Amino acid sequence: MLKRLWKILKIGLLGVAAILLLVVAVVGFWVHRQLQPQDVTAARARWPKAMTFETADRAALDLVSKMTLEEKIGQMSGSGMAPAILSALFRGTAAPVYAGANERLGIPPLAFTDGPRGVICGRSTAFPVAMARAATWDLELQRRVGDAIGKETRAQGANYWGGLCLNIVRHPSMGRAQEVYGEDPWLTGEMGAAILEAVERHNVMACAKHFALNSMETARFKNSVQIDERTLREVYLPQFRKAVEHGAASFMSAYNKVRGEWCGENRHLLTAVLREDWGFRGFVTSDWIYGVYDGKRGVQAGLDVEMPQAKVYGENLKKLVETGQVPQVEVDESVRRIVRTKLEYLTREDPQAYPPDLAGAPEHAALSREVAEKGMVLLKNEGDMLPLDKAKIRKIAVVGLLADDGATGDHGSSNVTPRYVTSPLKGLRDYLGAGAAVLHANGADLAEVGRLATEADAVVVVAGTRWDEVGEYVTDEEGLRPNGPSQKRPLVIKLPFMKEPFVMSGGDRVPLSLKPRDLSVIEAAVKANPRCVVSLVGGSVFTMEEWKNRVPAIVMAWYAGMEGGHALARVLFGDVNPSGKMPLTTPKDESQLPFFDEYADTIEYGPYHGYTLADKKGYEPTYPFGYGLSYTTYSYRNLKVASPAVAPDGKVEVTVEVTNTGSRAGEEVAQLYVGFEGSKVERPVKLLRAFAKVALAPGETKTVPLSVAVKDLAWFDAQKNAWQVEPMTYGVLVGPSSRARDLLKASFRVLAVAAP
Ligand code: BGC
Repeated sequence: MLKRLWKILKIGLLGVAAILLLVVAVVGFWVHRQLQPQDVTAARARWPKAMTFETADRAALDLVSKMTLEEKIGQMSGSGMAPAILSALFRGTAAPVYAGANERLGIPPLAFTDGPRGVICGRSTAFPVAMARAATWDLELQRRVGDAIGKETRAQGANYWGGLCLNIVRHPSMGRAQEVYGEDPWLTGEMGAAILEAVERHNVMACAKHFALNSMETARFKNSVQIDERTLREVYLPQFRKAVEHGAASFMSAYNKVRGEWCGENRHLLTAVLREDWGFRGFVTSDWIYGVYDGKRGVQAGLDVEMPQAKVYGENLKKLVETGQVPQVEVDESVRRIVRTKLEYLTREDPQAYPPDLAGAPEHAALSREVAEKGMVLLKNEGDMLPLDKAKIRKIAVVGLLADDGATGDHGSSNVTPRYVTSPLKGLRDYLGAGAAVLHANGADLAEVGRLATEADAVVVVAGTRWDEVGEYVTDEEGLRPNGPSQKRPLVIKLPFMKEPFVMSGGDRVPLSLKPRDLSVIEAAVKANPRCVVSLVGGSVFTMEEWKNRVPAIVMAWYAGMEGGHALARVLFGDVNPSGKMPLTTPKDESQLPFFDEYADTIEYGPYHGYTLADKKGYEPTYPFGYGLSYTTYSYRNLKVASPAVAPDGKVEVTVEVTNTGSRAGEEVAQLYVGFEGSKVERPVKLLRAFAKVALAPGETKTVPLSVAVKDLAWFDAQKNAWQVEPMTYGVLVGPSSRARDLLKASFRVLAVAAP
């Protein structure tokens, strides 16, 4: 009896073991399959080389005619996050998110990767954030970053890059300011065009986002931006239009609403403006997770792909088509746009091969350092405290919460996982080697800060924001409710096998001052040793009236990428002469800014913010837009306008002489603003319309050419739905920043009629 029971038990146990084994094998196989990258170029052999828009369009039309409804719907949504999540779990780094592969018809997948500060997949290069790159005002450098990002995108097996973040910083509290290029549409547009062209040269489809008006973060899932058409076109959209003109393959709609309508369902934005007005011929994807709520409205607005997986497209869209609620032709049009773009990029010849070790290559890390060095802005340098003299520094103290933190930005969708990150402390230690002692205190103990500062020949206080204090906002279901909570609700994931919960926080940064702890560290350091420089870490500006007069030197170092610490050391010791200029106005306090409520359900975006608001109201900010010092000095002379009168379809050519009047070589950013004093309509006092970065040896003078196309002076006449160039006299204002007293003045006239 016992024997029989034992036998049954044994069989049972064996059975359970076999089932378990089978489950493990099936799951293992599934995980393995999910982790296999999809080849983005495999379908290339099926198509002619270098298809033009027209041939790709014809091929796409033909494919549409051969597709089943399922196949069409399959093009219109992502295939889910499983590969990316599994890669994060098993390899510790992200992988591309795929959409719409169709082997039968030879259609490649979209293989999406974020991000604005480098490719987020694998171990790629972490560049300084977009805002730091904007501060270089260096389009050639931005192109080189784009070239590296394009190569790394391909090396990581992706072909679709979501790093072209073009929203405008209306208010510096904006949580994702670090991902964008500042407050000014012209600078943003130029930076965006430079990087997108360079990325796309590697046959990567660039995605301009978030279209549109995603200039607030905490309320991004619910708020509605009220705006008049003229402000929309003149202030918040020009840089997106430039992206279309420079060939952006794709757009991503924003989470927020515009005038009460979700951007992913907004026909005015996605079709009337983007396609009908600007002639965009690529495809539009949704922002992720909650980017489109209603499939029918999405398709009818012109939203082509729901990312990262089907929620309201997919099965739901199929039913909508089958029941006649969404006309088949609308789906066909979307699929045609998606497929022709994919074919165009797929069939272009690659300029090179993309082996995996291109991602995070040493030359890209070197580029990252160069960008960090050129983006750092010297805000204050009383008594020429900087550069520090290597020969005289025996001991230097590096203090503050971020002194030994390689802060590269938030941990949202733009987070890159490089092989290493150099903190300011590590950067200074590497730089000084055995030549000097680098003392360190994290600032938790203020007495220690004071002690080290007293001992040291100079002190560097590193202050600013950490990844979890500001950035992309991710919330839980509760936080997503319209009219939801007026407090931040970070997303917290705690699974049984996790030691620590996974927390996504972020959101807007209110207030704009440094944290009280940072202020105490500055105070303790400067009290003990007046030879004190504050290095600011972050993606936007800090108000600093309460402490700026207490310290002799301030450097805006931004989130400076994986090589930030080395870059900082070289700037502080003068191996690099700072040449960065602020892409944002630093206000004295919040009263100099437009109204902001991070929890607002509805908010009005008016025509003025940043320097245009300061100009209108006559505010003197702490530091104006375009401001930045150097270890040398420059003078501007002889501003000349080539022809005093130009036709409405013409160009204004301007020259100015810039001289390096100091004793060090340096680079200066000459800025040209156009003034609208004589206008019959309401206009800003001035607008940036050109800039150039020039290298000058000590004593050298260069004549810097700058030009402005007259069409770029137009205002948008909402009644006529047309851009108008006013025939009148315009001011030309050229100098080292946007501050009125820094600018040389001239003028020119725009004639009423075009030249014959
Ligand atoms: C962000 C996008 C990003 C996407 C995919 C969204 O939450 O808003 O900028 O591209 O996630 O990571």
